[in-house]
Amino acid sequence: MPEIRIEEGDITRLDVDAIVNAANSTLLGGGGVDGAIHRAAGPQLKAHCAGLGGCPTGEARITPGFNLPARYVIHTVGPVWRGGNDNEPDLLESCYRQSLGLAAEHDCRSVAFPAISCGVYGYPLEQAAAVAVSTVQHFLQSHEQPATVLLCCFGDAVASAYRQALEAG
Ligand code: APR
Repeated sequence: MPEIRIEEGDITRLDVDAIVNAANSTLLGGGGVDGAIHRAAGPQLKAHCAGLGGCPTGEARITPGFNLPARYVIHTVGPVWRGGNDNEPDLLESCYRQSLGLAAEHDCRSVAFPAISCGVYGYPLEQAAAVAVSTVQHFLQSHEQPATVLLCCFGDAVASAYRQALEAG
């Protein structure tokens, strides 16, 4: 039975098959978790991403993990929060669903997500956590892989919002 776990800490250190990056549409790196993943993966990641032609909001692209412990990085572009009436929930759900689809297609048994859009992009934590948990639960009802999904939380506030969403789910 696939499982969903809350994992607190730095996603770049997780020894999982794939980590998900909260990227921007250029896929050429940035701050936050995007910056941390590019720093840990090394310059080959940016060079590889430069050949992908970017990624629209709500979609995902997969690359090797290079110097990371993870075999793959799945880059997804979350929505910028604009008040909640600009299709943000559907776009965020699409990020999780498309990232899980790529993980399953690449036989990943384990995948870790950061709290997509909850930093620079300003998505309210509780609402984002509810979308994340419900989308992952729904996907795992009809897929055997990935067997383990880690929701990697950077800090107590994020972890508590995700725990609440998991308990309510
Ligand atoms: N490990 C796990 N989570 C992390 C890490 C890390 N090393 N660093 C940051 N986070 C968390 C943040 O605390 C936040 O909860 O990732 C979540 C997402 O925040 P951001 O990285 O700011 O991503 P997002 O809100 O989706 O904004 C994306 O920021 O860095 C730029 O290039 C990126 O333009 C894009 C935008």
